[in-house]
Amino acid sequence: MYLHGTSKVNESGHLEIGGCDTVQLKEEYGTPLYIVDETLVRKRAREYMDAFRASGLKFQVAYASKAFSVTAMCALAEQEGLSLDVVSDGELYTALQAGFPTERIHFHGNNKTPNEIEMALDARIGCFVVDNLIELQMLQAMAGERNQQVNILLRVTPGVEAHTHEYISTGQTDSKFGFDIGNGAALEAIERAVKQPNLKLLGLHSHIGSQIFEVEGFQMAVERVAAFAKEVKSKLNVVFPVVNLGGGFGIRYFEGDTPLQVSQYVKAITDGVKLHFAGIAEELPEIWVEPGRSMVGEAGTTLYTVGAIKNIPGVRKYVSVDGGMTDNPRPALYDSKYEAMLANRANEATEETVSIAGKACESGDMLIWDLDLPQVESGDLLAVSCTGAYNYSMASNYNRIRRPAVVFVQNGESDLVVRRESNEDIVRNDIIPARMSKQTINS
Ligand code: LLP
Repeated sequence: MYLHGTSKVNESGHLEIGGCDTVQLKEEYGTPLYIVDETLVRKRAREYMDAFRASGLKFQVAYASKAFSVTAMCALAEQEGLSLDVVSDGELYTALQAGFPTERIHFHGNNKTPNEIEMALDARIGCFVVDNLIELQMLQAMAGERNQQVNILLRVTPGVEAHTHEYISTGQTDSKFGFDIGNGAALEAIERAVKQPNLKLLGLHSHIGSQIFEVEGFQMAVERVAAFAKEVKSKLNVVFPVVNLGGGFGIRYFEGDTPLQVSQYVKAITDGVKLHFAGIAEELPEIWVEPGRSMVGEAGTTLYTVGAIKNIPGVRKYVSVDGGMTDNPRPALYDSKYEAMLANRANEATEETVSIAGKACESGDMLIWDLDLPQVESGDLLAVSCTGAYNYSMASNYNRIRRPAVVFVQNGESDLVVRRESNEDIVRNDIIPARMSKQTINS
């Protein structure tokens, strides 16, 4: 397993993260456990901020909280000077609970409900990323009623298709998101947006996909958005002070994944902006980006305890852990590959090839096919790396399995940031109609 950030094997032969021995973390918090290397998250945040500062452009780095939205993460993002992208009332509520500065919150989504818009207007968030005409109309009506001025970006699809898994490509024309540049929808939306008295159109937003390893897609998106900005200037005499180029910067999950350095992605974008936006307006636009996965993905490790082991001679050895698709649905959903190691015997040589199964009641609940490990025993600790993004945030209670706890680790200290769910949590919202209560049935 590749050791990201502060992960290392200590003298006891245990995996250590943030100076904390994972065997001790298991004693203290139990398993499954999400462990977040706080130092690595902060390092990533600073890499983005530093790379943009070096460009000389005005900028905002908005952490896409969908990757991992909990109050402690919002607090960290605030400390690092990041902005925040939210896509639901739940993510907005999380940010507000963390006391995140509302003027640095951007609200995304292709189907914001009236209640969500109301909540965001109440909070006076910094910007709405408007996705469609129904939203534009609703936002104007609601802002008008309150006599409130609201900043907006319009989400456009520049027609760029990133090299990525098809379920997470969003930049192409055939997408549920945004206004298409190619078919004229974007130009029409701008014409309408600038006429809305309570909406201030700051600019355009484009997001071309996720887990992208090359700069070409971003460069192409910048070029297309700039060409469109030029067209808008000449046809409508509208200029954009802001351009948001979304997220999608890749990370290393598995051998063979070849992400670039944060500074390389940022430089490609800022150089592209300097090249293609020159002369469109008096000033170059302020650049916003929205990294999610690359901010937190590599910083997360999930710790499991090995339970049942089923060996089918000549076929396969199934090693079951106390979590699975409920805490990490990505292998089942996207066929994602993960690396793992025995955290309690981290310096032992590999001896056998096994497959890691989850505990949910379906055959598709497999975390890793064909993993080389030392001779595994029930009770061993398995660490799966790179689980910081889209794991906790996509976790479910399938089979009424309780969601794990989350701890932040740094400098030899661990802090619980999300408690493990209890069985009481599982039935918290359940209601038995009175006509089904035991008393009624028995009488
Ligand atoms: N901005 C927008 C508008 C987005 O739709 C997304 C991701 C991001 C930013 C952040 O992208 P990132 O930097 O994290 O790649 N559940 C999938 C990923 C879905 C991504 C959705 N949008 C997965 O587990 O791979």
